[in-house]
Amino acid sequence: MTTTSTPRVCRGIGEFRAALGERLAALPGEASLGLVPTMGALHEGHGHLVRLAREENALVAVSVFVNPLQFGPDEDYERYPRTPEADLELLARFGADLVFAPTVEQMYPDGEPLVRVTSGRLGTVLDGASRPGHFDGALTVVNKLLNIAAPPVPGPFRAYFGEKDAQQLLLVRRMVADFDLPVIVRPVPIVRDADGLALSSRNRYLDAGQRRAALVLPGTLRALAAGELDLEAARARIDAADQVRLDYLVVVDPRTLAPAAPGPGALALVAAHVGGTRLIDNLAL
Ligand code: PAF
Repeated sequence: MTTTSTPRVCRGIGEFRAALGERLAALPGEASLGLVPTMGALHEGHGHLVRLAREENALVAVSVFVNPLQFGPDEDYERYPRTPEADLELLARFGADLVFAPTVEQMYPDGEPLVRVTSGRLGTVLDGASRPGHFDGALTVVNKLLNIAAPPVPGPFRAYFGEKDAQQLLLVRRMVADFDLPVIVRPVPIVRDADGLALSSRNRYLDAGQRRAALVLPGTLRALAAGELDLEAARARIDAADQVRLDYLVVVDPRTLAPAAPGPGALALVAAHVGGTRLIDNLAL
């Protein structure tokens, strides 16, 4: 089923739960629900998440919430792009039924939550090492969103996450398994621009020169996957690029994030600052 009408926007948790309950109850049988958590500033990458949710579920809800808990004090929380009107137009096109767009006060009425999800060992390496507390904040809000959206009536409940944030996806899967959350996690492949750059809401921070410079990230991942460069040479190539400061380039076992030899089954992960913008990307080898 394809929807082109403007989705209903819910602001409060109670309003969203009631709308979900009503819409699900109006659908025949044990209707399935797909939830796509986002921080807005939507692009075609989100389009793939929503469209897959549309294909697989009777009802599709998208949350749009820039979660302060997952930003460090020196990060871009304040200037993170917020484009609510454009988001709504895109969500109508992508086929969402409901949008949950709460304020910070609605999500955290008592201020910062006292109890948080701890991402553990896997949340302190790679992006977790560079962005302390980031994954605890991201998992805390994902946990809340899954609880808020959990259907009040029986039926499959699926949540959609992009493979670009490979470490986040792994941690969400671990949280769902470790806490026995009644939700099916659905990964969605990375979407790239024609030049190979992975789509990201942060790409809009890049000026034309930085955008060109950023292509060293997917280019180097491809060269690594093709065996044209070893890891050391790949790191050197990124380090040598103008305006690019490498944070990490690693090859890991995608289930554990432990270092792995480049080869089938391994995942290459990269993070780098391009100008003032931190970008991540990854490629299965
Ligand atoms: O990947 C994101 O956009 C965010 O980390 C998420 C999952 C919406 C939680 O804020």
